[in-house]
Amino acid sequence: MNKEREKISFSGIQPSGDLTIGNYLGAIKNWVGLQKDFYAYYCVVDLHAITIRQDPKELRERTLKNLAIYIASGLDPDKNTLFIQSHVPAHSEASWLLNCYCYIGELSRMTQYKDKSQKAGESVSAGLFTYPVLMAADILLYDTNVVPVGNDQKQHVELARDLAIRFNNLYGQTFVVPEPYIADSGARIMDLQNPDKKMSKSIDNPNAYILILDSPDVIKRRINRAVTDDIGVVRFLDKQPGISNLINILGAITNKSYKDIEKDYDGIGYAQFKEDVAQALIEELKPVQSRVKEILADKSYMEKTYKDSAERANYVANKTLRKMQKKIGLIIR
Ligand code: AMP
Ligand code: TRP
Repeated sequence: MNKEREKISFSGIQPSGDLTIGNYLGAIKNWVGLQKDFYAYYCVVDLHAITIRQDPKELRERTLKNLAIYIASGLDPDKNTLFIQSHVPAHSEASWLLNCYCYIGELSRMTQYKDKSQKAGESVSAGLFTYPVLMAADILLYDTNVVPVGNDQKQHVELARDLAIRFNNLYGQTFVVPEPYIADSGARIMDLQNPDKKMSKSIDNPNAYILILDSPDVIKRRINRAVTDDIGVVRFLDKQPGISNLINILGAITNKSYKDIEKDYDGIGYAQFKEDVAQALIEELKPVQSRVKEILADKSYMEKTYKDSAERANYVANKTLRKMQKKIGLIIR
């Protein structure tokens, strides 16, 4: 085994909407790359998703679908632990314990809470407010070294670090202090209709995003309709945010730099460029899509995979939880 694989990475995505190519190119593809250097815990964070009201049937379906997407994208369930958050009760228990060490002031400063609570209006749940503490529990239970996330989650990982340091200072070495791991290239895929905003699964206009499981026809149509400009050259420039986004997408798939892509498309128009971006996406997603279908159809494989994973995750998480309980002064059962 690669010695580096003694180090641990942990991450999760909420099953609160269907996964987009932003999730795929910005998160999952990086996770796949990291698994050769790190032992990985990746989970479908269903307990985070319910901080906003979910339809029960859709939540169940999406949780399994997202787990299938992790596996189909190349995360190996035999070499890593790919699990469903609610299958490991230690997350909820550790989250309560950590709640008692986290300050209201710290949670009030979280920008994602400010954004989401504004949208939720009057019905902001306490869960939405304390969600970063649950995320800290996720991370700290596994002695995590690195947390691969997008920029928007950096503040939450910093809170996990602060809580780990605070607890260690009070009770002696208990937690590994995790680092955020923000990948640079191809990391931020933008909205196809409004390329100043991040592509997101929670946007109402379907022309704005592409889902990992979208058909070739839909992909072609969405790329065709993607907003560009009337400059007419394929360049990675601030004044061409739409084209830059498409360059980013193509670069993330082909591993080419934007400079090389600019060269390849010197003197070539947007129509051809868009056709190539769509084709590259279709080819990239095709094997993932057919694997997802196979995996979801094989119920016993799915069940065995998430049960085995939960068993491994429970073992590690419970060990850390007991350590916390002991140090705090709870009687171990
Ligand atoms: P979310 O869908 O916002 O819960 O994010 C789940 C993971 O996917 C996080 O690591 C995000 O940073 C990443 N992600 C989501 N949308 C994008 C995007 N448009 N571009 C790049 N990464 C993204
Ligand atoms: N809060 C993260 C998001 O919305 C998801 C998440 C939950 C997560 N627990 C985590 C990410 C632990 C990394 C590590 O994207």
